[in-house]
Amino acid sequence: MLSGMKIFSGWQRFVFGLPLFFLLAHLFSVMELHKNSKVEEPQKQLNKKFDHLVLGPIAGQGLSNRLQCQGKKALNRTHSSESRSGVDGSITFVTVFTIYNTSSINDMDDRSNTIVGNASYNKFGRSMALLNVFINFIQVAMPQSKVIILTDPASDLSVQRSRVSLYAIQGDYSRDKLMLQRIRSYIAFLETRLQELPQKPGDINHYIFTDSDIAVVDDLGQVFRDHPNFHLALTFRNNKAQPLNSGFIAVKGTPEAILRAKLFLQEVLKVYSTKYRNASRMLGDQLALAWVVMSNPHFDPTRFSKALAFSEDIRGTSVLFLPCYLYNWTPPEGAGQFHGMPLDVKVVHFKGSRKRLMLESWNFYSSSREISDMLCLILGSGRTKYDF
Ligand SMILES: *[C@@H]1O[C@H](CO)[C@@H](O)[C@H](O)[C@H]1NC(C)=O
Ligand SMILES: *[C@@H]1O[C@H](CO)[C@@H](O)[C@H](O)[C@H]1NC(C)=O
Ligand SMILES: *[C@@H]1O[C@H](CO)[C@@H](O)[C@H](O)[C@H]1NC(C)=O
Ligand SMILES: *[C@@H]1O[C@H](CO)[C@@H](O)[C@H](O)[C@H]1NC(C)=O
Repeated sequence: MLSGMKIFSGWQRFVFGLPLFFLLAHLFSVMELHKNSKVEEPQKQLNKKFDHLVLGPIAGQGLSNRLQCQGKKALNRTHSSESRSGVDGSITFVTVFTIYNTSSINDMDDRSNTIVGNASYNKFGRSMALLNVFINFIQVAMPQSKVIILTDPASDLSVQRSRVSLYAIQGDYSRDKLMLQRIRSYIAFLETRLQELPQKPGDINHYIFTDSDIAVVDDLGQVFRDHPNFHLALTFRNNKAQPLNSGFIAVKGTPEAILRAKLFLQEVLKVYSTKYRNASRMLGDQLALAWVVMSNPHFDPTRFSKALAFSEDIRGTSVLFLPCYLYNWTPPEGAGQFHGMPLDVKVVHFKGSRKRLMLESWNFYSSSREISDMLCLILGSGRTKYDF
């Protein structure tokens, strides 16, 4: 699947739609901004986008179960090298990522190089750097895991990393269809796994479908170890309008779970295409996810207000609900959310205008080799809006 091209041979190439996820993420951030500006900081400050790291107030200080920091120095050691006891089966991260070479049209136009650390990136380079950092964090936290990138066959993506492969799936990856296509790609991928399973009985491979703007900072094997009976896992937050985030979906590797997860996502896709077609550009998948879950008469939405994992049978699929607080942590969780950073956070999501922070965090980690200190950096500067 890997083509022979080097990753940064793309310097001469230019980005078309992508960073598609940036665009989406940016739209999200605008919405967050409107929401949060009523509650918190003055809007002027929120609108300013920085091209360098800015540390702000550090949330959760004085709370015993939140990370305590002095600037970029952590007072608690998180993720101490406790035994990474094995999971039955291996884990593969799956993400959707496309990038296009539209050659010379944008050639002249691409003056907007940005500097991060000692590197200078054009748009294409930024997207690729983010993808690489996404992979870097996974390989630090879970060196045994693999990464599969689902991409448009027409995409010019090329990645040469060990334990990483590309998998092309035919589809409509245009901007306003991207979130719809993402679910379709997940379903198509699970279908291929179902077809391959009979050839590899006993070969259990769990899947974690994620956005590519996340940092995995701890071993996620314990999700599968501690919760032996789920089919599919989603992350929730204490937010009435959008309680579920689609950026992290785990699927157990058994044939039954893969089948059930596929059926569940097909239901979400159906709801998306019928009820939320007009929202397909951005929120549609989250709204459809929430609809499928909440339309279940036995479902108790007050469970979203506590950051505790729970399971529920949704149309025959055993769904594990994991708190965003640990598995999809984003800095401004807003009013009524879970403040500060828990000591055992597993996944940090660099939503909205925090992509620069994702690269800076990796650079910081590369020199400090301390995840806890890096988490202080993220906690302190995650409310800042950055330039990409
Ligand atoms: C975290 O560090 C603070 C400050 O040193 C300390 O008071 C607190 O007990 C620590 N928390 C944990 C859970 O170790
Ligand atoms: C991008 O496309 C142009 C025009 O088709 C081609 O000449 C160029 O080699 C391509 N660049 C890469 C890196 O594939
Ligand atoms: C940036 O500098 C570090 C050392 O400070 C070096 O290891 C790294 O290779 C440099 N990166 C680039 C892209 O030049
Ligand atoms: C989508 O929007 C169009 C025009 O705004 C409207 O006519 C149509 O009924 C909407 N469709 C759905 C499914 O809401």
